[in-house]
Amino acid sequence: MKLTQADFQARRDLLAEQMGPHSIAIIETSPVAMRNRDADYKYRTDSSFFYLTGFAEPEAVAVIETGDSVDEYTYSLFCRERDREMEIWNGYRAGVDGAVDDFDADEAYAIDLLDEEIIEKLLDKQKLFYRIGHRAEFDARVAKWIVQANGESRKGTTAPAQLIQLDRIVDEMRLHKDAEEIQLMQIASDISAEAHTRAMQTVKPGMMEYALEAELNYIFGKNGCVPSYNSIVGGGENGCILHYVENNKALKDGDLVLIDAACEYEFYASDITRTFPINGKFSPEQKALYQVVLDAQMAAIDAVRIGNSYKEPHHVAVRILVQGLLDLGIMQGDLEQIIDSESFRQFYMHGTGHWLGMDVHDVGAYKVDGEWRTYQAGMVVTVEPGLYIAPDDESVDPKWRGIGIRIEDDVVATVDGPLVLTKNVVKTIEEIEALMSASHS
Ligand code: GLY
Ligand code: MN
Ligand code: MN
Repeated sequence: MKLTQADFQARRDLLAEQMGPHSIAIIETSPVAMRNRDADYKYRTDSSFFYLTGFAEPEAVAVIETGDSVDEYTYSLFCRERDREMEIWNGYRAGVDGAVDDFDADEAYAIDLLDEEIIEKLLDKQKLFYRIGHRAEFDARVAKWIVQANGESRKGTTAPAQLIQLDRIVDEMRLHKDAEEIQLMQIASDISAEAHTRAMQTVKPGMMEYALEAELNYIFGKNGCVPSYNSIVGGGENGCILHYVENNKALKDGDLVLIDAACEYEFYASDITRTFPINGKFSPEQKALYQVVLDAQMAAIDAVRIGNSYKEPHHVAVRILVQGLLDLGIMQGDLEQIIDSESFRQFYMHGTGHWLGMDVHDVGAYKVDGEWRTYQAGMVVTVEPGLYIAPDDESVDPKWRGIGIRIEDDVVATVDGPLVLTKNVVKTIEEIEALMSASHS
């Protein structure tokens, strides 16, 4: 499944409407990033640029201009020209003809003409919508264009008097996913769930963390996907390192492994964490802590309901985690006091989720007018509570130390309640042990 040009056009229509008359929007895509010397990273288009254009080539700028009315706006695409020599080396390009024929641009120009053509487009517009602050180099270029356009004033023209943060509008559009976007995220989630299932089926004591990562990458790659962020595969105490990406240690018999890894499909991300025993059987301590995290996660998922505060799943999760830590004797004291003072942060130091969409930590304001916003249909959030007992935490009985657990699913707020996109990978103790015992016997 893929979005069509009609989908991208509908988004541009909505943007033009919000810009109002006599306005111009300039949206640039990401630059190519170099890895080392002349080897580059595989190119990934800018999410908001792609959201509005469906165009995934580098070196491209989209311009939307409204006139007296917003209905008849002009969409221009500046892109790389076709070039036989370059195409032999680096691949085919849409070129200016393709921009018009295949990407529905009203006007298309070679990217090299941007500095020249943009001045004319800026003249007599009242507002300039631009994504301020993403890249200093492009910011400077836009500033130069404004000065240049102002310099034309003797001809009786004017440059835009208002510069408006375009992100505010596009981020809000991206926060609310439509049915097709949810479908793409469902596909990404299904592939990621398959990858986690394979990891549970193939893990063995003695295996290297990177070898287990390779099992995940096999499923992503086989389905034409790439990871939506650097995979975390942390055995034992490495599961307590929140952003562990080295993945270069051996997985030990008796330890848990925490995998936070997922792929993106057609530029829509998923984000899954599972934690499971390397030898297929939870120890009593692992089981006890895991069940607390799972209870917290299930209750937090149930709190992703239309009208609830964005923070509600976090509050729900924290209360269950703290009660669990008290019951297991890992923390002592009063539940309310621990929650109010946030002393639980010794064991749970991150939030319970984030918006998810084209970017893994997706765009969209979390607060509106100073208040946490409430869930609306089509918002997608991760629910990812965890508990991490540091290996050197002497305040805790040694039997708990070095255990790190997180469980993460992707949840859509819908009129029928929370929809879990990532439900295809098991997470209860019984299900995990059954799956692993079936594949390891
Ligand atoms: N994988 C990044 C996160 O869970 O936020
Ligand atoms: Mn996440
Ligand atoms: Mn994650």
